[in-house]
Amino acid sequence: MKEKFDTSDLKFCGFEWFFEEHLETVVKLSKELQEKYGGNKQVIVAAAYLHDIGLTEGGFENHEERSAEMSQKILKGMNFTAEDIEQVKLAILATEKGNFKTLEGRIVMTADAMAHFLSNQFLVKAFLTDDFNKFSEWFGKKISTCFEKIGFLDEKEKLRPLFERFLLMREQYENKRNT
Ligand SMILES: [Fe+2]
Repeated sequence: MKEKFDTSDLKFCGFEWFFEEHLETVVKLSKELQEKYGGNKQVIVAAAYLHDIGLTEGGFENHEERSAEMSQKILKGMNFTAEDIEQVKLAILATEKGNFKTLEGRIVMTADAMAHFLSNQFLVKAFLTDDFNKFSEWFGKKISTCFEKIGFLDEKEKLRPLFERFLLMREQYENKRNT
């Protein structure tokens, strides 16, 4: 799967960093959340690994739906029941707008959002951008949507200080830029 991400023809930022910085962090956090809150571990880990596979074919637009469809095909060839595959799809779709329908979805959605704060992914994107002002605009929106998607109060409160520091950093950059 790492190879599929590394070699995919994505337009944004080159993509060799994505598996290590994003996916492995989402999987690690999902496992930690599963130990804390429960849920079907096999479903959670599969959804964590596959939730962005749709990015490798067709870009960012509707990638969650594509990830869910591609996962169905991948997991059919593995030891997954039809019910578990449905659960994996629901957990993947939960990462789209933060609408979780299951505990597994709530966990993967939360891990996906937290991974943005707890990996080097923002740093990599900042280094790879050719327009830092655009990056700053995107960053401001992204940290807010990610923070909203943290679906457990405990995790949200732990990450709040970092979220607020990110907001402050961006505000200071924007103030400096506009003076
Ligand atoms: Fe993701």
